[in-house]
Amino acid sequence: MENKNLSEEDFSLVILSKVDPERPLPTDIYLKVDGKFIKFKSKADPIGTEKYELFIAKGVKNIYVPADEVMTFLEWLNEASEEEEGTFVDEFGEENRGFFKRSKDFKEKVYDVYFEDELNEELVEKLQDNVSDFVDEIKKNPITSQAIALMLSKNSSVADHSVNVANLAVYIGMALGHGHQFVLENIYMGAIFHDYGKLKIDPRILENQDNRMYSHAVQDHPMSGVRMMRKTEGIPTQVLTIILQHHEQFNGHGFPKGLAGDEIYELAQIVSMANIFDNTLSENKQLPSHERYKRALKIIEFDNGKNWNPKYIDRVLDALSLAFHIRKKSA
Ligand SMILES: [Fe+2]
Repeated sequence: MENKNLSEEDFSLVILSKVDPERPLPTDIYLKVDGKFIKFKSKADPIGTEKYELFIAKGVKNIYVPADEVMTFLEWLNEASEEEEGTFVDEFGEENRGFFKRSKDFKEKVYDVYFEDELNEELVEKLQDNVSDFVDEIKKNPITSQAIALMLSKNSSVADHSVNVANLAVYIGMALGHGHQFVLENIYMGAIFHDYGKLKIDPRILENQDNRMYSHAVQDHPMSGVRMMRKTEGIPTQVLTIILQHHEQFNGHGFPKGLAGDEIYELAQIVSMANIFDNTLSENKQLPSHERYKRALKIIEFDNGKNWNPKYIDRVLDALSLAFHIRKKSA
């Protein structure tokens, strides 16, 4: 498939994240590998979601289309986008058209940062702005704001921790390339409710590790959280899975099920990272804040596949150390 006679001017660059992976392509598309253009898919084939996600995960930003067909390709992109908007409005109503447009712009803002090979302070600031925009928006949602209020009314220390974990988890999620509104909402809600099951535990047990009921109660809190949440209508399965799996560990030694590796839901891994990070901060309140952040970052840096998939570590470490102004690998 490779054609060495084709050069840069024969092609136009298109941003991969704008392409719908399941829609049959209007032209052939090419990848640039080691400076050469290689045909990747033929006209009328779709890219396919699996390949698309693999590319996105590997940081492939661009595909190439023959320069003389670029207008056809751009029109196709436009049509796809209008169609997607139309389907969304049909399903969720005209009043939600603005939401669709904002989510779409937002996703592109997240991708702008994600597709940079290396994070720096400026990009991290953008990322933090994206998180606050997202959080401001989600707090306007009555379901979320009621949920936070409910947590606060029951146990303020669990609620404070949950809000920290939710903000941090959204930040980590975005740093790992999650820009889709629904995915970020699931991360946020899963994090807000990750310890919901603890609210049922008698504080005399929860605050005393020597109590003979302590271990059982703690081991059971993900499942009891899910049982409680199931009573509320409209909670997405993804949110329940995050709650259930936030103490699972990549090496299979977590609880409640001892799931390992890819058996653990990716978004649960993200919430787990945020959870352990925030727990380490609270356990080290006696230290100056700079030292606390250093300690929490070290837990992530030296995890070695214990809690989390090692593929997340570098990027998350970059994002968090820049956010907290800690020099990476500061041992
Ligand atoms: Fe927990």
